[in-house]
Amino acid sequence: MNTTDAVTFWDGVHAARTVQDPRPNARLTEVVTGLPPGDALDLGCGAGGDALWLAERGWRVTAVDVSAVAVDRLAGLAGDRLTVERHDLRESFPRGRFDLICAHYLHTPLELDRTAVLRSAARALRPGGRLLIVDHGSAAPWSWNQEARFPGPREIAGDLGLDPAKWTIVRADSPRRTATGPGGQTAEVTDHVLLVRRNHRRDAPPPRTGNSEAEVLRGFLDYLRTSVAAKVDGAPEPSVRSAAVPSGTNLLGLLNHLTFVERAMFLGEEVGDWQATFRADAADSVADVVARYREAVERANDVLDGCPDLGAPVRPGRAPSVRWALTHLIEETGRHAGHADILRELIDGSTGR
Ligand SMILES: C[S@@+](CC[C@H](N)C(=O)[O-])C[C@H]1O[C@@H](n2cnc3c(N)ncnc32)[C@H](O)[C@@H]1O
Repeated sequence: MNTTDAVTFWDGVHAARTVQDPRPNARLTEVVTGLPPGDALDLGCGAGGDALWLAERGWRVTAVDVSAVAVDRLAGLAGDRLTVERHDLRESFPRGRFDLICAHYLHTPLELDRTAVLRSAARALRPGGRLLIVDHGSAAPWSWNQEARFPGPREIAGDLGLDPAKWTIVRADSPRRTATGPGGQTAEVTDHVLLVRRNHRRDAPPPRTGNSEAEVLRGFLDYLRTSVAAKVDGAPEPSVRSAAVPSGTNLLGLLNHLTFVERAMFLGEEVGDWQATFRADAADSVADVVARYREAVERANDVLDGCPDLGAPVRPGRAPSVRWALTHLIEETGRHAGHADILRELIDGSTGR
């Protein structure tokens, strides 16, 4: 199955249905009422009842569907009240980070790896953001799909394989409701409802260190190093390397720079152009840059383990004392960790130490 098949099929379905005044789904209104508005994404928006209802309540909505008929019709109806994009979710996923993503009855007789789409959705949530998946738990008498058996909410959650440290299952149940068919007829149906929330990262408290000067200095430096690496780890492309301020400072470049600082200070490596270190090599992934920083830190700590005297030079020759080197690295890492906090929040709303 390719995009043309999906467009042809769903264009046919939507062209045959004219919904003058699309209404929101019951589970959406139930879950969203009372939430503060933010950025919302509606996957497989169809006639757009959910997207329009959200926009009326102050949400900034992006509504997505594979069908050009559905997308054009909704764009005409909504004007500038919301953004409508055509995506075949098997091939592309809308850009951005969202506080709410909903997928109501994202069912299709054509091939669709729903798990992959819903995993992308979970990853596109901001911290605190919610993913609402509502599926048919039973077929209404007028449904085109009488034979299908849809997995329950716990099964869907299992397929998504979400790390419980990062996502919380807020709701997984199968309530019943009275549905109204295209001819105005009614029937009792079951919905499968799964609501997942992306957790906020917990703040790591200041480190418990030993009492000696070396233990305090090294404990706080390691705390900052861990924090700045975690801030960059998993940050999305391409924003992780895009300049966020006029100076060109970017999140990945900051960690790349700190790698050179560690190596220069503790391993004695020469750096010809410090400014260039603020830009990571295009060939390096985020994981590469993070791994290289962690490796530089490990090697730096090996050097420090061999330096029992804080007053002694950190390396042979004309080098600053260990005390000065540690204090400078705390200052340098702390300064850039603060920059990284702001840049990461600008990218996807993630906060926390
Ligand atoms: C059963 S309808 C549900 C529509 C709407 N969410 C609702 O609750 O009324 C499924 C929707 O998913 C859309 N869809 C199907 N396959 C898709 C794909 N591969 N990418 C994007 N949208 C798709 C269809 O065009 C259709 O609008």
